[in-house]
Amino acid sequence: MCGIVGYTGREEAAPILLDGLARLEYRGYDSAGIAVQSRDAEGSMRTQVRKAKGRLKALCEMTGNGRDVRGCCGIGHTRWATHGEPSVANAHPHSSGDRRVTVVHNGIIENYREIREHLEKKGHVFTSDTDTEVVPHLLDDYYRGDPVEAIIRLISRVRGSYAFGIIFSDRPGELYAVRKDSPLIVGTAEDGNFIASDVPAILKYTRNVYLIDELEIAKLTADEVRFYNIDGEEIEKKATLIEWDAKAAEKDGYEHFMLKEIHEQSQAIRRTIEPRLADGRVVMDELGMSEEEVRAVSRIHMVACGSAYHVCMCAKTVFEETARIPVDVDLASEFRYRNPILLPNTLVIVVSQSGETADTLAALREAKARGHRVLAIVNVVGSSIAREADSVFYTWAGPEIAVATTKAYSAQLAAAYLLAIFFGKVRGTLNDAEARKMIKELQKLPAHVDRLLEEKKKVQLLAAKLAAANDMFFIGRGLDYAIAMEASLKCKEVSYIHSEAYAAGELKHGSISLIEEGMPVIGIATQEDLYEKTRSNLVECKSRGGFIIAVTPYGNYSLEGVADEIIYVPKTLPAYMASVAVVPMQLFAYYISLARGLDVDKPRNLAKSVTVE
Ligand code: AGP
Repeated sequence: MCGIVGYTGREEAAPILLDGLARLEYRGYDSAGIAVQSRDAEGSMRTQVRKAKGRLKALCEMTGNGRDVRGCCGIGHTRWATHGEPSVANAHPHSSGDRRVTVVHNGIIENYREIREHLEKKGHVFTSDTDTEVVPHLLDDYYRGDPVEAIIRLISRVRGSYAFGIIFSDRPGELYAVRKDSPLIVGTAEDGNFIASDVPAILKYTRNVYLIDELEIAKLTADEVRFYNIDGEEIEKKATLIEWDAKAAEKDGYEHFMLKEIHEQSQAIRRTIEPRLADGRVVMDELGMSEEEVRAVSRIHMVACGSAYHVCMCAKTVFEETARIPVDVDLASEFRYRNPILLPNTLVIVVSQSGETADTLAALREAKARGHRVLAIVNVVGSSIAREADSVFYTWAGPEIAVATTKAYSAQLAAAYLLAIFFGKVRGTLNDAEARKMIKELQKLPAHVDRLLEEKKKVQLLAAKLAAANDMFFIGRGLDYAIAMEASLKCKEVSYIHSEAYAAGELKHGSISLIEEGMPVIGIATQEDLYEKTRSNLVECKSRGGFIIAVTPYGNYSLEGVADEIIYVPKTLPAYMASVAVVPMQLFAYYISLARGLDVDKPRNLAKSVTVE
């Protein structure tokens, strides 16, 4: 989604803004801009605005890497278009007349049409097709010398989601921010203060961060930061110290973030499981649930989007097998609008890497509004979902920059395994010996993942062979279908090749008509009790001309002669097989993207965190 950076201090703002926006490029965008308060030749304060369509490079070239835009207070933005095509006119920042008020925005103003009509009748002139542009004009209309008062009026008038960075031309050195649903943080440093959509934008300058809560207003000057609530009362907030090391947000010698993060998976799994293991058993203090409350859970309802949803599909299998709790799995974008039936004592578990996905956050709020306990499995500390859930299970995967998730997905799977073991033990569906076996196998996963990375050349060759494909199928049964869903999404996201994940047994009910000569069909066959069935489905595809690739554990040689290519993976418990089978599929997607010359870390049309509906 859009990226926001703001700075006010003793340094020149423009280079800092551009540097921050560059560190937010992974969020996905189609245009960029900055606005800086500068003194003109007569010494009067005015706001300079520079905007460019396309990559940030164009804006850097236009501004001499920021050197040509002087001033020490400003805001910057990378736009991911929602209303109004990608263009210079629609790029942020947006200003009111005479640039009295200038704003950058991440989110959607749902009632912008009525506000725009109202303001146009009052003589305001609009120059873009965006929803955002109503904000500076409305603020201008409300502003009577007190920015916080004008912002409070704005909050009561606009509907939708937002993170705003705001500057007023007659308030030199002052930077304002307010958020609802979209992420925004404040950073403080010796030479000035910052706002940003995410930590990587400002980690180079400070680790001291304030998390702005819903509808809180921040006022920043070079020397101080103040916070206000919706009643205009000043409030005290505690700073959070960011523990990441700066390199964590860099490529660290890898060609791409995606490849780096694929290689970080074993560490991500290890760092997620180890803190939850003590004396050979799973400890879950962070749940904040007594054993009695755990035993009282009658159902689990898991809700997420994208890859996090695919984790839920895998978690269903392991939870139901291990803890014998019925698990429903829902897409967050569906859950929030279908008036879901949540039975009493249902534990809702939301899963999100960013902790800012709008649909998942809305689902969390829907579940809480109905009185259900919500557990969040989240990777970003202090994110909106983490702060609003009743309890949080952090996946310690570290910052994930590539749009296509890999290490966070694997860490989320590990979290699900730990929860299933914990619930199974507490509820008595898992005895000590079984729990110890599951923990032992869990601790072997990082080594299995690393072993797969040693064999990535084979996957790279296969990817090169299939890079020209127009269509692909990923098929599997049971847990293998869930793995196929994630494999297909990875491939689509970064290679732009159309593919479908299909329940292998369902193909013959229609979609097998699509199989053509040479079409790649990737069969996921990791579940021993389903080997034979999946083999038959692959034979059906082969007999219709499909080029068959199988992903299966060492020891299962039943696909020799059926599959044209076989990727063998280490064998672990059937319930954990997604954690090993997914690795070659991530590499497959990565290498196909490279073979097609694409921007694998920043795929077109995509954002790292979808903070709008
Ligand atoms: C996965 O590779 C995608 N980037 C996307 O599907 C992602 O998983 C989804 O948008 C959910 O994001 P979240 O985990 O941050 O909530």
